Amino acid sequence: MRPTVELTGEHNQIKIMLGVIDVACDRLAAGEALPAGHLQQMVLFIKGFVDKHHHDKEEGLLFPAMEAAGVPGEGGPLAAMSGEHDIGRQLVRQMSDAAAGYAAGQPGAAASFIESGRNYVSLLLAHIDKEDQILYPMADSRLSQEQQQELRRRFDEADAAADGSAELIEDLRGLQAAYQQQRPGLV
Ligand SMILES: [Fe+2]
Ligand SMILES: [Fe+2]
Repeated sequence: MRPTVELTGEHNQIKIMLGVIDVACDRLAAGEALPAGHLQQMVLFIKGFVDKHHHDKEEGLLFPAMEAAGVPGEGGPLAAMSGEHDIGRQLVRQMSDAAAGYAAGQPGAAASFIESGRNYVSLLLAHIDKEDQILYPMADSRLSQEQQQELRRRFDEADAAADGSAELIEDLRGLQAAYQQQRPGLV
């Protein structure tokens, strides 16, 4: 499998979670009480699967390989994508604080989760779209067959080291069942 095909597959899992978060924010905004553990599971998935697993593979392996193949780093598309990862991490910190506050019954925690959650969903959906449509095709055309094989090998090592990913995907399925049915049109 081409390295970018694997990353696009991860995007599809991430988009399912973004749909879950979007529905959860709508339900909170409608005044519904949600299990606090669900909000914390959403945050744990983002921290573990999106940031630690997926974004680390991009920043640590794909982007350096693209830069070595001549794609501009500073001031170019790679820096722009990394910058969006950082904005996402700030929003995840807000979501994490809000989920903890919600579990503790703090007033305002739901509103804070809704705001940061919705901002995160729109940031990541646009980010994923740019990578799928522009950045990954650029990687496919710039990286030689050998460079892609080397990247494939490094991805396999990162995947093998990512213990906990299977549990996170299992949590994702549980949340998908609880939230996605509310809006069949979501991914
Ligand atoms: Fe990314
Ligand atoms: Fe990505």
